[in-house]
Amino acid sequence: MLEGLIIEQLHLNHQAPLAERNAAGRYLDGIVSRPVLSGIDLSVAPGEFVALVGPSGSGKTMTAMSVLRLLPPQVRIDSGAIRLNGLDLAQSREADLNRIRGGRIGMLYQQPKRMFNPRRTIGNHLAEPLKLHQGLRGRNAKARAKDLLAEAGLEDPASCALAYPHQLSGGMAQRAMMALALAGRPELLLADEPTSALDKVLERQILQLIDRERHERGLGVLYITHNLATVAAFADRVVVMDAGRIRESGRARAVLTDPKTACTKNLLDAATLMPPPRSVPVAPSPKLRLSETPESPCLRGFRRYS
Ligand SMILES: Nc1ncnc2c1ncn2[C@@H]1O[C@H](COP(=O)(O)OP(=O)(O)OP(=O)(O)O)[C@@H](O)[C@H]1O
Ligand SMILES: [Mg+2]
Repeated sequence: MLEGLIIEQLHLNHQAPLAERNAAGRYLDGIVSRPVLSGIDLSVAPGEFVALVGPSGSGKTMTAMSVLRLLPPQVRIDSGAIRLNGLDLAQSREADLNRIRGGRIGMLYQQPKRMFNPRRTIGNHLAEPLKLHQGLRGRNAKARAKDLLAEAGLEDPASCALAYPHQLSGGMAQRAMMALALAGRPELLLADEPTSALDKVLERQILQLIDRERHERGLGVLYITHNLATVAAFADRVVVMDAGRIRESGRARAVLTDPKTACTKNLLDAATLMPPPRSVPVAPSPKLRLSETPESPCLRGFRRYS
């Protein structure tokens, strides 16, 4: 029986040189260490969709990056266990991790174009995991690449495979990244706000594709988002983080309808934020006339109206 991803008591520290000076103005020797993640316990079963939410800086990305061991140089795993179906990722060698990234673990990021090599076509990007993880080469790899692009919702997969990343729109690039993430037939998908820059229709399509993969072949999904509507619609469970700790977790519906902690309540309040009632009448804002030049820098370059 596969257990999926299990993170136990993960502690991450940020280490930086001491920034203090002595009386003579010399920097003191030493290192300051501050916790980034403290005692993270988290699991994603095969076929499960777990949403990871929390305010900015709470440690969501660092949690996902720990799984891939792609942490910034100053941030270290202090202690804890990270296992994927029995494989100890915290102890794996770099060469093994390289095979796991894009293979057993697929990744989706917020800005796909930054993750692609601008000098390589999309087809070229897809060829790598197909060869490495699926053993596909030549014509077979090309055919599979086109299938993956079509499944990700790209209308003209053949042209897309020949395109360079800069030739794709943001939405097309996100779909291409989705195809790339699924090319190695991963057991686990780590998605870090992959749809926050997309329109709602595209966002839903990407989420539906992820949903299909998990139902059809048991893909486990750890999905980082600020969008609680996404959590409500797609997540089985939700984990709420704040200041490097898990504050609350449980079935998505239960946590969203009956939050137990102030952190979750704040997130829910922010999601339904309404403008406060105005007690003081507000003067109508002056309309711009064609004869006037917009003075605000943010209006420069816009066509004036009357
Ligand atoms: N590149 C980095 N180098 C050093 N420390 C970092 C780096 N990125 C993040 N951190 C530290 O890790 C903490 C958690 O950051 P993380 O990026 O995981 O937050 P997040 O929850 O993903 O926020 P957001 O919603 O804004 O993406 C931050 O408060 C910061 O102190
Ligand atoms: Mg983040």
